[in-house]
Amino acid sequence: MVVGVKMKKLVVLTGAGISAESGLKTFRDMGGLWEQYDVTEVASPEAWRKNPELVMRFYNERRKVLFEATPNAGHMALAALQEHFEVTVITQNVDDLHEQAGSKSVVHLHGELRKAQSTVDSRLVYTLKNWELKMGDLCEKGSQLRPYIVWFGEPVPNMSMAAELAKQADIFAVIGTSLNVYPAAGLLDCISRDVRVYLIDPNMLPVSARKNFTFIKEYASVGVSLMAKELIDALNGF
Ligand code: OAD
Repeated sequence: MVVGVKMKKLVVLTGAGISAESGLKTFRDMGGLWEQYDVTEVASPEAWRKNPELVMRFYNERRKVLFEATPNAGHMALAALQEHFEVTVITQNVDDLHEQAGSKSVVHLHGELRKAQSTVDSRLVYTLKNWELKMGDLCEKGSQLRPYIVWFGEPVPNMSMAAELAKQADIFAVIGTSLNVYPAAGLLDCISRDVRVYLIDPNMLPVSARKNFTFIKEYASVGVSLMAKELIDALNGF
């Protein structure tokens, strides 16, 4: 790192794919979670009203896997880029593997699996000590706790902050997301036209052609390091 020189802003949008190699299932790949579960039955306010036990069980299962997971080479390579860039990670993931890898600035768009939220006062959020959240676990106001997840049909509180960050990006990267879910996928429309955009995914995605666009068709564990090398070489004038 060069002291006194303002670092470029690297803003990264991540999705389930970056955590796949840590053993967390993605949603829309073959064998993904939405093949096993009906999204409306487990990830919506209606589902919570209709069958809170099922919703609780779904997120408890996810949390149990997370408690045993560790960051992979993709999360680590991204965190290491903080040596050279001002990195902000905007993630759709509800895991905390970016934080565990050492990323300092992480914005969660869809909530956090390790936390629970009051059903009467959304400002009351608690960090869970273990993977299991149960019916009967109450907030300090005596109401049932729910998973701290932004469900389909709910507003995304961190979206305007994320859009502002995307606007300020000098470089933007998209890693491991199918870009199927809005408003998160709309962040690509916020970035300036001349900004270099990297897309890291083992599968081709329908991203409209733009100038300064690099597609790295790799798993995150390999692709993030390739991107990092290219970015650092460019900084050093190679
Ligand atoms: P998806 O499951 O829709 O997409 C995962 C993406 O990761 C796909 O494009 C895969 O090709 C890619 N992928 C798979 N393995 C990878 C690897 N090892 N390295 C890099 N990429 C890999 O997941 P998201 O786009 O994150 O929301 O889904 C967005 C939202 O939809 C989630 O946050 C969740 C879901 O419904 C809620 O539950 C609210």
